[in-house]
Amino acid sequence: MPAFQPVRGMRDLLPEDAALLNYIVCKARETACLFGYKEVVTPVVESYELLSAKSGEEIRSRMFVFKDLGNRTVALRPEFTASIARLATTTLRNEPKPLRLFSVGSVYRYDEPQRGRYREFWQSNFELVGSARPEADAEVILLTDSLLRAVGLQSYAFKLGNVGVLRAILSQEGVDEKTQNMILQLMDKKEYDEAFKLVKPEKCRALLSELLELKAPDASSTVEKMREKVKGYTEAEAAAYNLAEVLRLVTEGGCNVQTVEPTFARGLEYYTGMIFEVYVPQLEIALGGGGRYDRLIEVFGGEPTPAVGVAHGIDRIALALQMQEKTVEPKHGKKVMVIPVNEQVKSEALKLAMQLRSAGVPTEFEVMRRRVAKALEDADRRRIDYAVIIGEKELRAKTVTLRDMAKRLQETVPIQALAEKIMHEA
Ligand code: HAM
Repeated sequence: MPAFQPVRGMRDLLPEDAALLNYIVCKARETACLFGYKEVVTPVVESYELLSAKSGEEIRSRMFVFKDLGNRTVALRPEFTASIARLATTTLRNEPKPLRLFSVGSVYRYDEPQRGRYREFWQSNFELVGSARPEADAEVILLTDSLLRAVGLQSYAFKLGNVGVLRAILSQEGVDEKTQNMILQLMDKKEYDEAFKLVKPEKCRALLSELLELKAPDASSTVEKMREKVKGYTEAEAAAYNLAEVLRLVTEGGCNVQTVEPTFARGLEYYTGMIFEVYVPQLEIALGGGGRYDRLIEVFGGEPTPAVGVAHGIDRIALALQMQEKTVEPKHGKKVMVIPVNEQVKSEALKLAMQLRSAGVPTEFEVMRRRVAKALEDADRRRIDYAVIIGEKELRAKTVTLRDMAKRLQETVPIQALAEKIMHEA
């Protein structure tokens, strides 16, 4: 048999990495709670039709698609939004709005593996369903800001835009939706020349070039200039006004948007309005991104329902924290190792270990049957705080030996008082 390795693009997360991931997941859950989002757990496997409906060519071509044994074409979810939109059109259709839903878990994309780009990665996902107002757009940005602050990330920067501006200009110039999607995909990849080749009306192409070239000293003057440029395109004006409002609200909410890009587009096809991404200087790839998708729920057969959301790339946030040399100390009490001196006291020692755990003390049991000195060596190596040594004589007196591993001090402690003493010392 060969020595097996994970499949290309898949990773094992060893304890330290898993602890960091769980730390971020924990902060995401706290953020969900603070902003009133309820957690839902949706399947990893969904129908390919659902996942591909409005995700766009980029994601469609990177899905893990297969036939299940019932001959259904299914795929591993590449994101959460389609599953949440499915819920909003079915089981949760009649829930009062706004509906705030949170999910966390692994998602799958056949991306080219490189630093920060994996084929299995984790997202924390927030969807706010039922409001078309800029307050809702602002909320998903502000909760992202809160999460990144809570995990201890430094100098992250938001990039904001509104894909509704581009869509409105293209629509008014008669560019069909399919071509719009192709143009926006190319713009997302910064392939502007290729994108503009697909824009037939010369006037429209010139306007897009002007928007691309638009320079201003700060985010709010960029939006002002943008509003000037799109005058005459009614829906684009409305979208640019929305952008101004969102920018004002997030700034008032204490979040600093560093850039507004008039020609900002994102890979996913379902966006209709505000879009954003967040970056750190140490990485050129986004740590999170989201936006408004007002038509997806309708496409899935629901009532026309506005919605906005965001997904955070947990692996990339973890990577950014490591690059910023932020260490995350796991929060637990003092760790104990219970060591029976011989076989005769094994059952009693095991019982005591269970009692300590019931009292909330993290307790390991010596399962290798090593001599006490060897077991203590191992406890030292693994940074155990206390060894509890159980001998026959002590047991008869209902006591144990408690050894403080760091201080190398031992004392006899009544069993009854043991848990209390360890917790008190901690
Ligand atoms: P997305 O921009 O495709 O948006 O993904 C969100 C985040 O997932 C990215 O910003 C990035 O941090 C992380 N990510 C994406 N691909 C990879 C990868 N190959 N490896 C590691 N991390 C990755 C969405 O998924 C939308 N569903 C967001 C949304 C929710 N929009 C509205 N609601």
